[in-house]
Amino acid sequence: MKLNIAVLAGDGIGPEISKVGVEVMAAVCRKFGHDVEFVPALVGAAAIDATGNPFPEETFRICSEADAVLFSAVGDLRFDNNPDAKVRPEQGLLAMRKQLGLYANIRPVETFDCLIHKSPLRTEIVEGADFVCIRELTGGMYFGEKFEGADHAFDTCAYTRTEVERILRVAYAYACRRRRHLTVVDKANVLASSRLWRKVAKEMAVEYPDVETDFMYVDNAAMRMIQEPTFFDVMVTENTFGDILTDEGSVITGSMGLLPSASTGDSTPVFEPIHGSWPQAAGKNIANPLAQILSVAMLFDHFNLTDEAKAVRNAVNASLDNNVRTPDIQVDGGEPYGTREVGAWIADYILRH
Ligand code: IPM
Ligand code: MG
Repeated sequence: MKLNIAVLAGDGIGPEISKVGVEVMAAVCRKFGHDVEFVPALVGAAAIDATGNPFPEETFRICSEADAVLFSAVGDLRFDNNPDAKVRPEQGLLAMRKQLGLYANIRPVETFDCLIHKSPLRTEIVEGADFVCIRELTGGMYFGEKFEGADHAFDTCAYTRTEVERILRVAYAYACRRRRHLTVVDKANVLASSRLWRKVAKEMAVEYPDVETDFMYVDNAAMRMIQEPTFFDVMVTENTFGDILTDEGSVITGSMGLLPSASTGDSTPVFEPIHGSWPQAAGKNIANPLAQILSVAMLFDHFNLTDEAKAVRNAVNASLDNNVRTPDIQVDGGEPYGTREVGAWIADYILRH
């Protein structure tokens, strides 16, 4: 297969983990005989510094022409600490999502047996947790009408039936492939937009009689996720709730550095780690590249290249088994590996197995 991949490294630890993602993807393509081309493009603070725009036109063009985007992270302390900044690196990510029509963000929450002890939850609670959060990504407060005055400001959470329907279709498709249990997370006891979600979901549920559909308020879901994470199979929710719940989901597994995600919709899909740019670690060769590497596995899955995806996951598991790990997940007394070294080990493992 011929693959054209736009590589958006972004900020902070982004460039370091991006390099590793590319190296691992190139190794898989070499092994399986795929012809891959990587096209780098600017995003985030890096793009603001170079062009003034966090998602330049040129980057949009490169993404549109690519088969997939391998994205790393955006965010920079210079902007975080300046509430008056007119442009922000995060706007680059939001512009990319909107312009590429990426309305469905797929965030799997899976535990790795050998890292379960790193979870803030007791092992018996988190053991076996395996669910997917489907987060709506181009609507809600992120994109609704806004106003920012000196003494008054608002963001609007707006959804149309079409937007709710299309994300629920994605969620039902996942539920059908998995354990056939869909939890629709909303705040229908307070919010009008949530009541629209619930109404549309109830109508659609009859089309999927063999999927068990249940409804949960978001505050309750946040609690249930730490009390009984194994309850969930597929959860679907609006943009802001999904943002919050997926950070919660990522830490219960033991390391935020491990969770990948896929964003799909109308045009080129994007694969990215769910963690941020961790500016404090930039350039130190300490960031965990596994979420980025597992994003490459999700990319292969998207193109039905199942063996390629498996090769990536097997190599990640082997690196964990051999304690080839960055400091955040290294075992007591184990020698911590650098970002580059973990990447090189995994790429080499793929080529040799
Ligand atoms: C995420 C991030 C982004 C979001 C930020 C960086 C804009 O937190 O992908 O979850 O809020 O969507
Ligand atoms: Mg987030």
